[in-house]
Amino acid sequence: MDYENIRVETRGRVALVTLHRPAALNALCNALIAELNHALDGYEADEGIGCIVITGSEKAFAAGADIREMQDRTHPEFYMADPFGEWDKVGRRRKPIIAAVAGYALGGGCELALMCDFILAADTARFGQPEIKLGVIPGAGGTQRLTRAVGKAKAMELCLTGRMMDAAEAERSGLVARVVPAAELLDEAMKAAETIASMSLPAVMVAKESVDRAFETTLTEGIRYERRVFYGLFATHDQKEGMTAFVEKRKPNFENR
Ligand code: CAA
Repeated sequence: MDYENIRVETRGRVALVTLHRPAALNALCNALIAELNHALDGYEADEGIGCIVITGSEKAFAAGADIREMQDRTHPEFYMADPFGEWDKVGRRRKPIIAAVAGYALGGGCELALMCDFILAADTARFGQPEIKLGVIPGAGGTQRLTRAVGKAKAMELCLTGRMMDAAEAERSGLVARVVPAAELLDEAMKAAETIASMSLPAVMVAKESVDRAFETTLTEGIRYERRVFYGLFATHDQKEGMTAFVEKRKPNFENR
């Protein structure tokens, strides 16, 4: 399929999706989210893909949901169409997704990055939830995921003032996994994705699911869950291969990757 708002390519077992609406700083219109989900559906079904990277341009990962598209919406229209229900699908993907963020990640752009499994940031990245300046609030999970990521004090400050934070502050507050020089962002993201894609895919998917459980449940339940899926991995060929390869001092040859 030809996409208008994203560019896609695969490099080995890694899929790279580049948000591409340069005239609107990658504002996330409904068509872009539909194209993103279409591409992600394909990668989820493709056994040859082990990790996905989503990135934007040098200037903007994404400057938010598309304000022009939303401007004249009425409540019933918005409520019935529930466009952010489509966004939620990105956060429910089973294969790992890395957000490689340079420039602005604002509003829905920050929320999209937060739906990914982790964020690698260029030193030029700027994060924020400026919706309050538009007379609204974050609507694609920002008040929830940002708060879980950086804690109440900073999330509250960002959501109430609309202030942006730079990459260093984002790293200090736990929003991003790592900050790298802008020129190295894509290479670093691809390297991380290749590493992940070289592992046993069932183990990677279970690890993702298990870490995500930490946000959904109590510690006791989360540990019980982790224990179950840990034992479950002993039903896989890749567990035998991984441990045998360690003992034999060689590289593992995973079946599922
Ligand atoms: N929606 C639609 N268009 C947008 C946009 C957005 N979120 N962000 C930028 N654009 C457009 C601008 O309208 C402009 O288009 P024109 O050239 O046709 O006028 C173009 O992108 C370039 O933007 P600027 O001229 O404003 O660029 P700048 O460098 O001066 O400023 C910026 C950059 C600070 C990011 C500024 O564009 C900005 O503040 N953008 C809006 C950020 C925002 O409020 N995001 C939240 C959106 S609401 C939301 O996301 C809801 C939700 O929770 C899902």
